[in-house]
Amino acid sequence: MRTIVCLLVGAVCAANVAAQTARINQDESKVPEFTLPEILVSESGQRISTVEEWETVRKPEILSFFSENVYGETPKERIPVKWTVLSEIGDALDGKATFRQVLFTFGNPDRTVDAILLLVIPNKKEGPVPAFVSYNFNGNHSICDDQRIYYPPIFHKVKAPDDISWERGNQKSRWNLDMIVDAGYALATMCYHDICPDNPALRDCSIASLFSGFNRNMQDYNEWGAIGAWAWGLSRIADYLETVDEIDASRLAVMGHSRQGKAAIWAGAQDERFKVVISNESGCTGAALSKRVFGENLSWITSRFGYWFCPAYRQYADREEALPYDQHQLLAVIAPRHLYVSSAEEDKWSDPKGEFLAAYHAGEVYELYGLKGLADSVMPEIHHPVHCDVAYHVRAGKHDVTDYDWSCYLDYCDKYL
Ligand code: GCU
Repeated sequence: MRTIVCLLVGAVCAANVAAQTARINQDESKVPEFTLPEILVSESGQRISTVEEWETVRKPEILSFFSENVYGETPKERIPVKWTVLSEIGDALDGKATFRQVLFTFGNPDRTVDAILLLVIPNKKEGPVPAFVSYNFNGNHSICDDQRIYYPPIFHKVKAPDDISWERGNQKSRWNLDMIVDAGYALATMCYHDICPDNPALRDCSIASLFSGFNRNMQDYNEWGAIGAWAWGLSRIADYLETVDEIDASRLAVMGHSRQGKAAIWAGAQDERFKVVISNESGCTGAALSKRVFGENLSWITSRFGYWFCPAYRQYADREEALPYDQHQLLAVIAPRHLYVSSAEEDKWSDPKGEFLAAYHAGEVYELYGLKGLADSVMPEIHHPVHCDVAYHVRAGKHDVTDYDWSCYLDYCDKYL
């Protein structure tokens, strides 16, 4: 009997997935006609023509929409944090770098959440260095082979011990530490599960659980989801970096891939300490325009990953045309700080063209500040990065972070950070 029920449930789930997959459009000719919501016209119809009007009228409207309807409200409450240096490895990367591992203990003694930051600092430097702030997916120990890097505190809860994605060095191809350090940058990285496990069943272990009024089941319409919590964590890393002598905290770049690209954009929109915001293939509800309904759509993302967002976001599933805002407006909020959006040619799921167009349209606000957006409304060719105040590139290949991506980000940061 049990087997039959399981088989039936399995069949229904498979049918749902198949039905949803069928609704995924990857054909440019089937992109619906849509009107992009105006960036420079306020909700009351006021045309925004000065930086002051932008900053006092329109930018707050855009931020409120995204916080009330998409990612949820970031709580204002301050959660105590204690930083403990766990280890200092001065001879990392063949002597080129220092690895400092810092335990962040959030909360009060009766209820805490632990996270470990890995700070990679170049040894050769003349003064404080700029830093990239970026989460890793599979643990700090996955970004290089060094045996001395600790596993994340949350490790045993989120993945089975025999899951090979947790092996040491498993994601090192995404983190060319030599390239970053040789270019004179530090890297501050943390496993994103430490801040908020990417599993709604483990919400009790996330930093969200430390806030008063914590709601395990996320019933409130505007309650923040995992992306909001990850973005909050990026700002807590910035708090720490402000105390580190070797880091120039006035030169922080936040960078994220895919779901972490979404979090990097949301962190960059809210926290002005991030002077460069880099979205690596962040796709749906990241850099891509939702109204194109190309690749991943709102029905899919809110049913598979509803816990990343506030419950209110579900009202737009299958109703992209009803969205009063779109992602180009969120990107515009980053102005006049620097914005870099990148795509991969084969990553149709993330809608490269939608990512490009959102970055292109965000340029209107950069121009208000006397800065340069992407000049051409036509996507550049593969491997032809455009580095204006807003930057964009599309590279060959799949959804990933490659040396090519990093070399573009480093060139851009050399110019603007
Ligand atoms: C899934 C999800 C995307 C997300 C990606 C990732 O593909 O649908 O929205 O960006 O995972 O984070 O790798």
